[in-house]
Amino acid sequence: MAVHIAVLASGGGTNLQALLDALGPDDPARVTRVVSDRAAAGALRRGERAGIATAVLRDPADPAEIVAAVADAELVVLAGYLKLVPAQVVARFPWRMVNIHPALLPAFGGPGMFGRRVHEAVLASGARISGATVHYADETYDRGPIIAQWPVPVLEDDDPDSLAERVLAVEHALLPRVVLTLATFGLPDRPLRLSARGEVFHVAPAGALDVKLDRRTTH
Ligand code: GRF
Repeated sequence: MAVHIAVLASGGGTNLQALLDALGPDDPARVTRVVSDRAAAGALRRGERAGIATAVLRDPADPAEIVAAVADAELVVLAGYLKLVPAQVVARFPWRMVNIHPALLPAFGGPGMFGRRVHEAVLASGARISGATVHYADETYDRGPIIAQWPVPVLEDDDPDSLAERVLAVEHALLPRVVLTLATFGLPDRPLRLSARGEVFHVAPAGALDVKLDRRTTH
């Protein structure tokens, strides 16, 4: 049975689209809900075009409304969702709520760090490498354990828009890869991380070694 995914998005939804385009009928995951805090969000239109149930949150701070909107989802994906998720909702999805961020966290994240501002801050800092991060979401902005990252070089003639464009292209590859990995391993009840070599590890408690997982062992 495919893992049911609810995608929360506030904006245009290109990450949602990347997920919809990447997930085929035989894949172990399927987007079943698209939820937004903005009725005008392009992400809702993408969901409607794909025949997926959509919902607009009247009060994004109301846990009961969010839980109802994500309905039967087993995995929640925050893809350009700008509101904080209430702690009660986070608690219902232990290691089953992920967020994508257009920088290499923990740098260039946190309150107010979204969209163009992130890339402006990267350029202003003089950093030569930026990238994308997918991490487990918690009730704060951009702070949960990192699952996977991918680097993007900052070029001499970059401006916030050109950098954002190259990072977004990497986001569109990284997010489906993480979602498929979580679904392939059956949404484990403890954190996973992906190495740059594509290896998958169960993150061990502090002081213990992470356990490398083998896709062939998945059911
Ligand atoms: C992406 O860059 C994502 O990392 C960030 O918000 C942007 C959303 O883009 N959190 P889209 O709505 O998926 O096109």
